[in-house]
Amino acid sequence: MTLPLKVGLVGARRAVSTCRGFGACPETVVHAVCDLDEAAVNAAADRYGIPERFTRYEDMLDSGIDIAVIGTPMQFHARMSVAALERDIHVLCEVTAAVSLEECGQLVRAQRRSKAAYMMAENYCYMQPVVLVREMVRQGLFGQVYFGEGEYTHELEGLHFTATGAPTWRHTWQVGRRGCTYPTHSLGPLLEWFDDRVESVTCLGSGRHTPPERRMDDVTVMLCRLSHGQLVSIRNDMISKRPHIMTYYSIQGTKGCYEASRGTGAPHKVWLEGQCDGPEAWRPLSEFEEHLPEFWRNPPEEAVKAGHGGGDYFVVRDFVDAALGQRPAPIDVYRALDYTVPGLVSEESIERGGVSVAVPDFRAWDGVAPLKAL
Ligand SMILES: NC(=O)c1ccc[n+]([C@@H]2O[C@H](COP(=O)([O-])OP(=O)(O)OC[C@H]3O[C@@H](n4cnc5c(N)ncnc54)[C@H](O)[C@@H]3O)[C@@H](O)[C@H]2O)c1
Repeated sequence: MTLPLKVGLVGARRAVSTCRGFGACPETVVHAVCDLDEAAVNAAADRYGIPERFTRYEDMLDSGIDIAVIGTPMQFHARMSVAALERDIHVLCEVTAAVSLEECGQLVRAQRRSKAAYMMAENYCYMQPVVLVREMVRQGLFGQVYFGEGEYTHELEGLHFTATGAPTWRHTWQVGRRGCTYPTHSLGPLLEWFDDRVESVTCLGSGRHTPPERRMDDVTVMLCRLSHGQLVSIRNDMISKRPHIMTYYSIQGTKGCYEASRGTGAPHKVWLEGQCDGPEAWRPLSEFEEHLPEFWRNPPEEAVKAGHGGGDYFVVRDFVDAALGQRPAPIDVYRALDYTVPGLVSEESIERGGVSVAVPDFRAWDGVAPLKAL
């Protein structure tokens, strides 16, 4: 392996947000950027001093890069990941991992055959409150956890049509289908807290009330049964007219609970039996920061500069460690599918009136059996 590893970015908007994180890793250099839109390529390359510019993804893959960072629209994620993995190029891919079960199968097959690492860049799992709550759950402060909520309310009307009125990828792939089509920001952190996967989902929608008409319900709720019996509720709402709250979470255990902020400066709050006086005595989550892992309490200076309190650095750092073969990617292909597949399966549940539908575990897939039969 020749260091520094050469990074190629595809999707010159979102993928470029990793530049600071890679810049803070001495083992990598951002070497190439690709986008169908040449102006976007030039803007990103000029801003970050990236030497190689491409408008065709395959040309970038064949240019000698070691890492592909995929930040294109979600319907391209699986096929672009497969194309990189087939060339033994490491992949850091935006959410979601895939848009169909068939694509999930293709991704798993490609990862099994590849020498390269794959990680999904679910950055919400790296936000500081999420990491802190994860540590508190691991240390048993909430007792046995049995219920959680995640909500992604993010009205994106302005991104559903181009200036000429043509529907965008978000219109087709996020709100052009029924079901929990964009679940990973909500489900990812919860699955890390529960250290589990979803076994079955039940999905219902509120119906459509908000013009212009789209296939997706204004509010979609996906109820997830985890493999150890716990219950998780996910609200996915990219349509309702309201302020954004993309990071609302809660967790309930036998000894305590956590509720994230719902805005207007309200703190994230915790109640723990024996550590808070009375049933109304919430304490701010910030009072529990001693439970953060050491590298989060005292992040390196370059991590802080990368943004999101260090989160944008840590996601890249974990991926680079995986690419270097130092440890497995925390959100590897199977974990990425744990976050993604419940949403795909929820489409069947909602179309069938909310029946419970099993969520396949791709770890158990032989690579051949029909995906429905998993
Ligand atoms: N993790 C997060 O917090 C977060 C935030 C925003 C977006 N995203 C994800 O990032 C992805 C991109 O979102 P966005 O908001 O930047 O979208 P966007 O539409 O603003 O930008 C997509 C870019 O990809 C380019 N592109 C499209 N097809 C391409 C192809 N075949 N080859 C090369 N370039 C191509 C487009 O020209 C465009 O510049 C989406 O999957 C979205 O879900 C994640």
